[in-house]
Amino acid sequence: MSAAPRPRFVEVGPRDGLQNEKRTLPPAAKIAFIDALSQAGLEEIEAGAFVSPQAVPQMADSSEVFEGIKRKEGIRYSALVPNEKGLERALQAKVDKIAVFTAASESFNQRNINASVAQSIERFRPVVLKARQSGLPVRAYVSTAFHCPYEGRIGPEKVMAVVGDLLEMGVDELSIGDTIGRASPVDVRRLLDALLPVLPLERVFLHFHDTYGMAVANALTAWQEYKVPGFDSSAGGLGGCPYAPGASGNVATEDLAFAFSACGAETGLDLDNIRAAAACLETHLGRPMASHLGRVGPIRS
Ligand code: HMG
Ligand code: MG
Repeated sequence: MSAAPRPRFVEVGPRDGLQNEKRTLPPAAKIAFIDALSQAGLEEIEAGAFVSPQAVPQMADSSEVFEGIKRKEGIRYSALVPNEKGLERALQAKVDKIAVFTAASESFNQRNINASVAQSIERFRPVVLKARQSGLPVRAYVSTAFHCPYEGRIGPEKVMAVVGDLLEMGVDELSIGDTIGRASPVDVRRLLDALLPVLPLERVFLHFHDTYGMAVANALTAWQEYKVPGFDSSAGGLGGCPYAPGASGNVATEDLAFAFSACGAETGLDLDNIRAAAACLETHLGRPMASHLGRVGPIRS
């Protein structure tokens, strides 16, 4: 059996984490959070979303946030973009990468971006083309790839159909989302068995929310058994989607990195700095962070 690859992390806390908070943080707090994350060895930070401020008011200040952060060389600072208007704003903010987002479930997509899956694909075509002409790499999210809050279980064939359209459009990488945090390792195997014959490993990221505490097990299954290297996570376990009722936060970056290290991987992440970045949000959010590492304190050897 070949060795599992070095894991790669995309930090989505400043976007997925903060989009769902009841309290909208001041831009200065978001900037401090991102600047602290920049000291933790991450290669990519999703720093905001150029979505409609009516749809997600928490992300309305993304231009200001991008203007305020101290960019560290070697880190890509990316953002969500739902349409051409979002791309214009993202280009003005000088993002390093964009992410378009659709879903495997019609009901979720309709609520999240007011479009059917087919309509969303058509909406992205000019966005992806212009982003590529501007030299920006493009990620595409496929949400509700395992379960949908409105339709229940989602079969791999629905994910495969939308992945096929996105690849044909020319996106660089796919992030496959367990939006409501309901998947188990059995579901992960079922989907990866279908997906990996058509999708090169280095273009796959898995995006696990941790509602039922299965996210670390899911990630380790994908990494150890299928050699998937890429994972999304959120410092402090922040996160959720305003259009996915009942979903909790993303898997915490520090918990996921700890689990990978415990299984022998070199992550390149400084866990204390990740924890410290998340802890600086506690006063703003009025509650402690949800991660295991946040609760147990410094790691004893
Ligand atoms: P719509 O209402 O159909 O769009 O929304 P519209 O084109 O009719 O525009 C309505 C208004 O929004 C107009 O303003 C537009 O100008 C404005 P008005 O004329 O009424 O004053 N508008 C914008 N303003 C700023 N930036 C923009 C923009 N676009 C329109 N880019 C739309 C459609 C897609 C825009 C909207 O539904 C939207 O922004 N949705 C985003 C929802 C969202 O961000 N959800 C959370 C992220 S997805 C997620 O969390 C899942 C993920 O983590 C993976 C996983 O867990 O599975 C990624
Ligand atoms: Mg998410």
